[in-house]
Amino acid sequence: MLDAVLSRRTLLASAAGAGAAAALAPAVARAADAPGAPAPAPAPGAGPAAPGKAATPLRILMLGGTSFLGPEIVEEALAQGHTVTLFNRGKTRPDLFPGLEKLRGDRNGDVSALKGRSFDAVFDTSAYVPSHVRRVREALGDGVGHYTLVSTISVYAAMGASRDPIDEASAVATLPDPTVEKLTDATYGPLKALCEQAAEAAWPGRVAHVRPGLIVGPGDPTDRFTYWPARVARGGEVLAPGDGTDGAQCIDVRDLGRFVVRVAQDKTTGVYNAVGFEGPLSFAELLHGAKCALRHDVTFTWVPAAFLAEQKVGPWHNLPLWIPPEGNNPLRNAKAIGKGLTFRPVAQTVADTVAWLRDTRRDVAWGTGRAPGLSPAREAEVLAAWKAKGSGAR
Ligand SMILES: NC(=O)c1ccc[n+]([C@@H]2O[C@H](COP(=O)([O-])OP(=O)(O)OC[C@H]3O[C@@H](n4cnc5c(N)ncnc54)[C@H](OP(=O)(O)O)[C@@H]3O)[C@@H](O)[C@H]2O)c1
Repeated sequence: MLDAVLSRRTLLASAAGAGAAAALAPAVARAADAPGAPAPAPAPGAGPAAPGKAATPLRILMLGGTSFLGPEIVEEALAQGHTVTLFNRGKTRPDLFPGLEKLRGDRNGDVSALKGRSFDAVFDTSAYVPSHVRRVREALGDGVGHYTLVSTISVYAAMGASRDPIDEASAVATLPDPTVEKLTDATYGPLKALCEQAAEAAWPGRVAHVRPGLIVGPGDPTDRFTYWPARVARGGEVLAPGDGTDGAQCIDVRDLGRFVVRVAQDKTTGVYNAVGFEGPLSFAELLHGAKCALRHDVTFTWVPAAFLAEQKVGPWHNLPLWIPPEGNNPLRNAKAIGKGLTFRPVAQTVADTVAWLRDTRRDVAWGTGRAPGLSPAREAEVLAAWKAKGSGAR
């Protein structure tokens, strides 16, 4: 099951990595924090909030904000009546959010545009090595009322190694030398854990560490979860992994965006696994839910993990989101639910993802070097091999 570990780690790393992780090439480890800038001004007093808006408008700094999760956070913050300033290099969709203040800089080097500024809340979707966090601390000093670091469930040492549940108290992975900021698939999780520690050291008692699982839904640049809605939408006989009982955990990007904003509004601190759902969701439920949401002339042929391994069809990359039971740790999410994390029905995520593919004419070459999943030809080949053993669809 080491493959599952690596696959899941790789997936989560490349989740980050589609653009940002590569862009955020590791910087040299830096010395500890510098003394701070002015304390944050009190949030403007609000009076009664407009319907659907937060009671107290916040001045928010979004470190990132223009790829996948960031825009959802920004949209939600604006909908809640907050003011948002973006900080990024201006490379990824620089025209997004034309009405917002945009500060330019690079977390690997010059963040001086942040100097002397103060914010009620900071959302950080673009920290991959601890020096990214320390640099922000040096620039903003104490001028941060609340800081939300978007981390990852890849921080957990036990991820993918067993069937044991993982909660926020589970041990995080470490590096032999924590001063080396070399970002790879293998170091992504431990470096995120170090980012969390750097944030806590920078603004003690003011940090929410939000650890998402696979982030999915419209706009996902990684095309992983998207494989399943797209595959069901194509119809016909679908190769489905395992026996249908394996867990399928992920989170809709819009639910995550809403949670991140809620956490800042409530000044929630501590560590939270941000992963679906209210109850367990099996792979069979996911796929049959997709069938109900999309089209009915589709059948599923469940192919056992051992046969898939023989055919060199690996979990996670070839069959996205799927992890065989031996390495499929259920992530506990009760803490986050207790702080307001909610989930839309997964069928809605599925339908919206297909609508996004259609509307944006996103044409994915599944199962090629560039995209996860199985190509139609490869899927048919494996199904034929499985049927040659005397099994069928259900
Ligand atoms: N996708 C998943 O399944 C998954 C799962 C678990 C956790 N996560 C975490 O969720 C977060 C998702 O990130 P996202 O990419 O969707 O966030 P995002 O905020 O939408 O996009 C990343 C932002 O970072 C900026 N950026 C990149 N390199 C930068 C640099 N060197 N200096 C300053 N800004 C820089 C980019 O703009 P410019 O390019 O213009 O600078 C962009 O605005 C990540 O922290 C990831 O680790 C993801």
